[in-house]
Amino acid sequence: MHSALGAPTRIRLASPDVDDREIAAVARVLRSGILTNGPETAAFETAFAARHRVECGIAFANGTVALAALYLALGIGPGDEVIVPSMTFISSATSVLHVGARPVFADIEPETFTLDPADVARKLTPRTKAILAVHYAGQPADMDGLRAVADDARILLLEDAAEAHGATYRGRPVGGLGAAAMFSFTPTKNITMGEGGLVTTDDGGLAARLRLLRNHGQIALYEHAQLGYNWRLTEMQAAMGLVQLEKLDAILARKASNAMVLRPLLEVIPGVRPPVVAAERTHTFMIYTILLSSAIRDAVLQGMLQAGIEARVYFPPAHRQPVFARTSTDLPATEEVAGRMLSVPFHSRLSASELIEIANTLATLLGVTMK
Ligand SMILES: Cc1ncc(COP(=O)(O)O)c(C=O)c1O
Repeated sequence: MHSALGAPTRIRLASPDVDDREIAAVARVLRSGILTNGPETAAFETAFAARHRVECGIAFANGTVALAALYLALGIGPGDEVIVPSMTFISSATSVLHVGARPVFADIEPETFTLDPADVARKLTPRTKAILAVHYAGQPADMDGLRAVADDARILLLEDAAEAHGATYRGRPVGGLGAAAMFSFTPTKNITMGEGGLVTTDDGGLAARLRLLRNHGQIALYEHAQLGYNWRLTEMQAAMGLVQLEKLDAILARKASNAMVLRPLLEVIPGVRPPVVAAERTHTFMIYTILLSSAIRDAVLQGMLQAGIEARVYFPPAHRQPVFARTSTDLPATEEVAGRMLSVPFHSRLSASELIEIANTLATLLGVTMK
C-alpha cells in the first residue's frame, strides 16, 4: 500500500482486529444456510444493546441508512430541520437530505470538537425537529447541555455514535443518552463487520417501526403494510459482529493505554495539542486528532505521508463540501479546528515503537528534537 505521495505506507490508519474467530463465525453461518434475516442478526442486536444498557437494537446494512431510517421512523421529512455539526463524516448531514429534510449546521466546542449547545440554541427555528449529537472521534458530546436545549425546544435529541462504541458520559454508555442512537461498523471503527449499522433505543414502538422500514414494510410474508426498504445486515456480518463485540472491551483498554503512551510524547513537542478529554466522559479514540498551527498543518501532513505514516484530515467540514454548495454558514470554531487538525494512526494493533515513531516524526517535522 502506498500513500498519496507514493511513499510506502508503514503505519496504516486502520487495522481491524480480525482473526480466526471471525473467520470461524462466518464459516459457521455460511454452512448453516441462513444468510440473512436470521438468529445471528437477532443475537447481535440483543448483545449490542445490552452492552450499551439500552432495551432495543436494530441492525442495518450501514450507519448512513440507519440514520435515514431513524428520521423516517420519527416522522422527520420535507419541511423539517435537523441540527448537526459540520465537523463530522458527511453522512451525518446527507442522511437528513436523504429523507427530504434539511440539515442545519451548528458550531462545535473547540476543545472536544462536539456540538456547542449555545450555538445549537441559536440555530433553532420553528422547523427544527431534532438535534444530532455526533460523538466525534469516540468522545461523547455535551449531552446534558444539548438535552437542556432539546427539552426547552421540545425537540428530539439523537446520538450519532458511529465512532463511539463503548464510550461513556457520566458513567452511562452512549447509545442510551437520547431518544435513539446510531452506530457504524466500517473498518476504521473500533469494531467492524466491513459494513454495518445499528440503532439503539429504549422505545419499543420506534424499534418496531425501524424493523418495518428495514425489511420492505413487511408484516407477514409478502404482506407490505407501508413503504419500506432492503436495509438488512447479512447473517455473516452479524456473526462477525458478535465476535467483534466480545473483543470491544479489550480493544478499548489497549487504546486507553496507548493514549497514555502517546500523550506525554506529544505534550513535550511545542506546537502540538493532544486530544482533550472532557470531565466525566471517556474517549474511545477511534480517531486521534491533534491540533497544530494552521500555517504548518498541510506541510506536516505531507511529511507524515512521506514518512509512511497514514495521517489524515479527519474531517474536512461538511458545510464546505460541494454537495452543500459550500454554504457560508458562520461556524468559527469549526473553521479554526478544520485548518489546524491532523489525525494520526491510532488503531488498536499499534505497537509502542510505532507510537514512538509517530511522535518522533511529528517532532522532527516540527523542527524539534525530543529530549
Ligand atoms: C460520525 C459518523 N456518522 C455517520 C457515519 C456513516 O456510517 P456508515 O459509513 O456505516 O454509513 C460515519 C462513518 O462512516 C461516521 O463516522
